[in-house]
Amino acid sequence: MFAKPMVDQFKETASLVGLMDINIKRAEAANKILKTNLPVYNDFNKAMKELKIDTVLVATRDSQHVEYIIKSLKAGKDVVTEKPLCIDAAQCKKILKTQKETKKKVYVTHNYRYQPCMMLIKKMLKEGVIGDILFIDFHEKLDRLHGADYFRRWHRVKKNSGGLMIHKSCHCFDLMNWFVDSEPVEVVATGDLVVYGKNGKFRSKRCRGCAHQSKCEFYVDMFPENSEANDLYLNAESEDKYYRDACVYDKEIDIEDIANVLYYYKNGVRVDFSLMAFTTYEGIDIIIEGTKGRLEYSVIHDNSWMAGKVTVHGLASSLGEKLVLYTSEGVKNMEIPKAEGTHGGSDPLLRKDIFIERIPNSPLATLEEGINAVLVGDAANKSIKTGKPVKIKDLRK
Ligand SMILES: NC(=O)c1ccc[n+]([C@@H]2O[C@H](COP(=O)([O-])OP(=O)(O)OC[C@H]3O[C@@H](n4cnc5c(N)ncnc54)[C@H](O)[C@@H]3O)[C@@H](O)[C@H]2O)c1
Repeated sequence: MFAKPMVDQFKETASLVGLMDINIKRAEAANKILKTNLPVYNDFNKAMKELKIDTVLVATRDSQHVEYIIKSLKAGKDVVTEKPLCIDAAQCKKILKTQKETKKKVYVTHNYRYQPCMMLIKKMLKEGVIGDILFIDFHEKLDRLHGADYFRRWHRVKKNSGGLMIHKSCHCFDLMNWFVDSEPVEVVATGDLVVYGKNGKFRSKRCRGCAHQSKCEFYVDMFPENSEANDLYLNAESEDKYYRDACVYDKEIDIEDIANVLYYYKNGVRVDFSLMAFTTYEGIDIIIEGTKGRLEYSVIHDNSWMAGKVTVHGLASSLGEKLVLYTSEGVKNMEIPKAEGTHGGSDPLLRKDIFIERIPNSPLATLEEGINAVLVGDAANKSIKTGKPVKIKDLRK
């Protein structure tokens, strides 16, 4: 996400000065992939002492962001962290306290905001095209390729990722916070694990060498010859036993693969959100109902596993994004600006915003915005656990 473009594209305005990973083999593999000879560390304090650093880019597991953000701020560095900012309200409080004490900056790379269509929706909402927002209906569907990947590795344990309500849905909660431009108040949620983990009829440690390969729909060969995955994961396993292709039916999985979340904002906007991580096709549907009109957004992503394997009648015509505006003047299909690059063209724009200069109306998420996304996810987690509504103000205490 950051390292390669920094080395290849942003040499004039940013320089990558070192790599730190608890697994030194993975840091060395990064050097090989980047074609660099950067100093590598598995000791963060040593890296901070030896390198000349302005900003630390945090891209470790979600649960460990807090440790590196706080250490960096205390060492007088600014921080750009991968989403989610961290995994719960307690970690948010620690980060906020340190940021206030040190007065250094923290930004969260909520790249979803940078997708051209999301920026267009934000602009239309700001211009009042549908009046005041009353209600958002937001459904995220992850397919059996992409969705399953969260059940193969560290994300599948809540203490590492906060579950999908934090790791994945933080993108959606952040988008809605940004659209609505108000504070979330109270959240109620339900969730379950209905496909992966304990639900499997058979299981193994990992796909590589698994005896169930021929009958398992989730079998993958993650390590084709000469792939980057070999260097980054397979050849580095000896250090930390991190299996990139671990079994999706492992009984240690304790995160949900389906969840429904209802919540509302200070300005009265209500939200109905759902996430599924096992759908046949991947996509997103958003309806934003306002006092003067409605916006409907939908997308089917072409990583859909069915699309990849067979020609499905009608699929090609439904691929891509649609944004429809309904007002008293009629129904209008909006033209969505096109952008090249990963995550729907959002990543190159985000990197430009960070590494060159702020783009006009920069959507770069601040610390407070990163916190608000985590708080909705944490409230959902707590509500799923207790069966009760959770007030955001109680999480801030
Ligand atoms: N914005 C996006 O679209 C997007 C996409 C993918 C990942 N991410 C985020 O990027 C981060 C990394 O995800 P990933 O998919 O690259 O995971 P990964 O497992 O491939 O990489 C994480 C790295 O952290 C290292 N690590 C583990 N424990 C550590 C510790 N205690 N100290 C230092 N390093 C440690 C691991 O060795 C590994 O190299 C996550 O926070 C994730 O949410 C964001």
